[in-house]
Amino acid sequence: MDSSPCLHFILFVLLILIKPPTSLCANDSRYTSCGTEFACKSLRYIKYPFWGGNRPEFCGKPGYKLDCVNETTVISIKSLNYSVIDVDYRSHFIKVARMDYLGNICHPSILQNTTIDFALFNYTSGTQNLTLGYGCPLHHPGDADLDYPCTINNTRTNIVVNPSIECSQTISIPVFDNVVSDLHLGRIKLGHALDRGFTLQWYVESELCKNCILSNGSCGIDDYKSFICYCRDGSSSQLGCGIRPGIFACHVYLHYFLNIC
Ligand SMILES: *[C@@H]1O[C@H](CO)[C@@H](O)[C@H](O)[C@H]1NC(C)=O
Ligand SMILES: *[C@@H]1O[C@H](CO)[C@@H](O)[C@H](O)[C@H]1NC(C)=O
Ligand SMILES: *[C@@H]1O[C@H](CO)[C@@H](O)[C@H](O)[C@H]1NC(C)=O
Ligand SMILES: *[C@@H]1O[C@H](CO)[C@@H](O)[C@H](O)[C@H]1NC(C)=O
Ligand SMILES: *[C@@H]1O[C@H](CO)[C@@H](O)[C@H](O)[C@H]1NC(C)=O
Ligand SMILES: *[C@@H]1O[C@H](CO)[C@@H](O)[C@H](O)[C@H]1NC(C)=O
Ligand SMILES: *[C@@H]1O[C@H](CO)[C@@H](O)[C@H](O)[C@H]1NC(C)=O
Ligand SMILES: *[C@@H]1O[C@H](CO)[C@@H](O)[C@H](O)[C@H]1NC(C)=O
Repeated sequence: MDSSPCLHFILFVLLILIKPPTSLCANDSRYTSCGTEFACKSLRYIKYPFWGGNRPEFCGKPGYKLDCVNETTVISIKSLNYSVIDVDYRSHFIKVARMDYLGNICHPSILQNTTIDFALFNYTSGTQNLTLGYGCPLHHPGDADLDYPCTINNTRTNIVVNPSIECSQTISIPVFDNVVSDLHLGRIKLGHALDRGFTLQWYVESELCKNCILSNGSCGIDDYKSFICYCRDGSSSQLGCGIRPGIFACHVYLHYFLNIC
């Protein structure tokens, strides 16, 4: 039996009238992949904009790749590795600590300032720079109580906090305000101060991902690295997974009558 030409005409008009979703016949494996969470030890429920582990690259944005190394979640920012202590989706904060300093303040592999990528992250309020001086004179004026003794190459030396003296190298590392006051009050040692880390806020595309999740989609990026919402039926759109009758009809038309998808 021939399908009626009228039906074809109506569907043709529908096709050109409605704006089709970005990819009508996309594979819904992207919806499934991006619906899975990144989990590493006690950190769980991590999704967009992060990817890595069992979340493929199209499930997150460049620069937000996570690794699970030896039960530690690791993110690399400007070629330094940070351990991720916490991820807070309500405020879009991640709490990180420099891995080269974890329990190892005397012997970082290279002395390097903390620099973040401001296109991806911002510092949050309540954070300040702590300056550490390496190779400073052993005896100096100022608050020597804060000096942290190290033995490097069998030579006794100090790491000086916020040095007002000449040191061979200085580096700055962000810490929480209360860590600085705890240091000054002698409540913690420098060696533990950096382990507490600092928070960064990640970039949020207004409401796009929120709307996607509310419409039961999975957030990810398209081939042009822009935000996209992957839907259960294999379609995708920036705006979410609204069931639009026009698109549904079009999908059915392509699928059953033309056998395209
Ligand atoms: C969907 O994609 C997966 C992996 O990319 C592939 O194995 C599978 O065959 C695809 N399915 C269809 C219907 O294209
Ligand atoms: C993993 O961590 C354990 C305990 O901290 C350590 O003994 C081990 O060497 C680490 N393994 C790797 C591959 O880093
Ligand atoms: C960062 O960690 C990765 C593995 O997760 C490692 O290959 C790389 O060498 C590390 N980079 C630095 C600067 O330590
Ligand atoms: C620390 O100093 C760097 C470079 O001077 C600056 O970019 C950064 O914003 C400072 N961090 C904080 C938390 O103030
Ligand atoms: C320690 O000694 C080694 C070998 O003599 C040298 O390469 C290294 O630079 C020294 N480290 C410091 C911090 O002086
Ligand atoms: C860190 O930055 C300060 C200025 O912000 C600079 O004086 C210092 O040399 C830098 N340290 C390193 C190791 O690059
Ligand atoms: C950082 O803050 C500035 C000013 O508030 C804002 O314009 C920028 O988009 C923020 N960057 C990120 C990555 O959120
Ligand atoms: C999302 O899925 C839930 C459970 O499967 C369902 O109750 C809800 O109506 C769906 N929401 C939308 C907007 O499709």
